[in-house]
Formats: sequence, structure tokens, C-alpha cells
Amino acid sequence: MKQKVLKQASLPDALTAALSERYDLHELADIAAIADEVTVVITNGEAVVTREFIASLPALKLIAVFGVGYDGVDVVAAREHGVAVTHTPGVLTDDVADLAIGLLLATSRQIVAAQKFIEQEKWRDGGFQWTRKVSGARLGIFGMGRIGQAIARRAEGFEMDIAYHSRRPDSSLPWRFIDDLRTLAEWSDFLMICVPGGAQTQGKIDQAILSALGPQGMLINISRGSVVDEAALIDALDKAAIAGAGLDVFAAEPNVPAALQQRDNVVITPHMASATWETRREMSRLVLENVNAWFSGQPLITPVSQ
Ligand code: GLV
Repeated sequence: MKQKVLKQASLPDALTAALSERYDLHELADIAAIADEVTVVITNGEAVVTREFIASLPALKLIAVFGVGYDGVDVVAAREHGVAVTHTPGVLTDDVADLAIGLLLATSRQIVAAQKFIEQEKWRDGGFQWTRKVSGARLGIFGMGRIGQAIARRAEGFEMDIAYHSRRPDSSLPWRFIDDLRTLAEWSDFLMICVPGGAQTQGKIDQAILSALGPQGMLINISRGSVVDEAALIDALDKAAIAGAGLDVFAAEPNVPAALQQRDNVVITPHMASATWETRREMSRLVLENVNAWFSGQPLITPVSQ
């Protein structure tokens, strides 16, 4: 008899098909009938897996996250219930770093506003407004994990001056460590947010950090909307207390505040940093391999340390 696996969030069709082939895959709507028999839950980086949800599935042994961020999963509750958690690190690093650089360039050079300028037939009346130079500028990176490092390597190609702040310095890295986020923000032309989401980073980019970034500074966020106090960001943009923002993530996705839209100096994308065909295939493969490993008694490929 096939094992019961519960799909708790939306997944790529090919992954859903591959899981259905091997397992008895159920949607959340079936939960009442199968709760006692579910051993594996598959979820994604944006979904929320609460302590109550974990406790409601007595046979649960594994939560496999389709995504690198697992801030939506109550990992402590999982550990207490003897439930392992896996995620998909590594395979999406390049894509996220690519989009981060794309947002940085698009925001500073106002590429989206420039396209609208042509489409609105304004070019005939004169050229587009001047924008801000990226090459050689100061890039402050908050969070120097795999993704932060991949962004820093790319930024070196633009001869950017790079510094970072994270929980602790990593002496194997060539970039300058600044031991205080506010000082990093003050120093930066561009402040790039690369920390994981969750309670430890909630609201870290607040009014004080934004005012330290200052009227010439731009904020880029490809991590989680929860890291930024969105009301403070809107206020800073309204008052021109910062120069602009490039955002792939928001506090209440898929809702994006109207106040962040239709601004020349704000570029927004719909949480799509890892959404390429190539990377979503690799993420799917890794989820499947973790689930298969668990059912065949093999070590998990990419467990979250609990
Ligand atoms: C996406 O946001 C992820 O965590 O992979």
C-alpha cells in the first residue's frame, strides 16, 4: 500500500505528478479523513506550518519544504514531536543572487520607469531623468550566507565596495565585516537584505535603519518581507528619507501595498527569485530525493538542523 503524503501548499505540477506516482498524495482538503496516517507533509517556502498543525498529525515524521527558507515552519515544535524538516538550499542560490543584482540595477537605473516613459510617449519631449551609478558604489549586505556571498561575488564584477553584517564575522571571506547593522546602513549606497526570515530578523529594517541608509541610499530585499517594517519603508519613501527600493518579497504576500506601487524609484517583483525552469526542476528533484530517502531509511539529503 502506498504511503500517505500530504501536500500543504502549491507545488510545481511535475513534482506533484512525481509524488503521486510513488505515494498516495493528498491535498489539504482531504485532511480530516487521513490525518492519522500522514507521515510526510510537503510544503513551500511561503506556507505556515504551525505547532497545532504538527500536533494534529500523530504519524507525522517529515516536513519537506520546497524552498530554502523554512521560517514558516515551527521547527521547535517539529523537533519536540520527533518530526524532521528538510529544505532546498544551494540549488537556488544563483537565481536569487541573479535577481538581487537585477533589482539593484533596475532600481538604481530606473529601468522599469524608463520603459514606461517610452510607452507613455514622453521621449519626444526630452530624455529620461538621470539616475544613480552602480559600478564602484558601496554595497552593504545584511546576512552573509550562501546567497549573500553569491551576491557579493557578482557585485565584485561591478567593482563595488562590499561590506556585510551578520551574526558573526567569517574570516574566510574577503569582505569587510561591520559589527552593527546601523553602521552598515550608514556606510551603504545599497543595502541588500539576505538574512533568513523568522522571529530573529522580524522588523530589523526599521525607521532607524532606513534613516541611517539615508536620502541617497537604496534598499534591496530578496529574503523575506517580514525583515522590513513595511510601514516605515513607505514612510521613508514618502519623505524621500531613502532614494529607492527593489523588492521581491513583502509582508503579506500576495498583497503588495498600493503605496509601494507606481513609483519611479521602487521596483517590485512577485517573490520570483528562484522561479526559473531550471531551478524549480532542481528544487523539485531535491524535495523528491529527501522524501524518497526518508521512506527508504536513508539519511536525509538536506535536513534543517534542529
Ligand atoms: C523562497 O522564498 C525560498 O525560501 O526558497
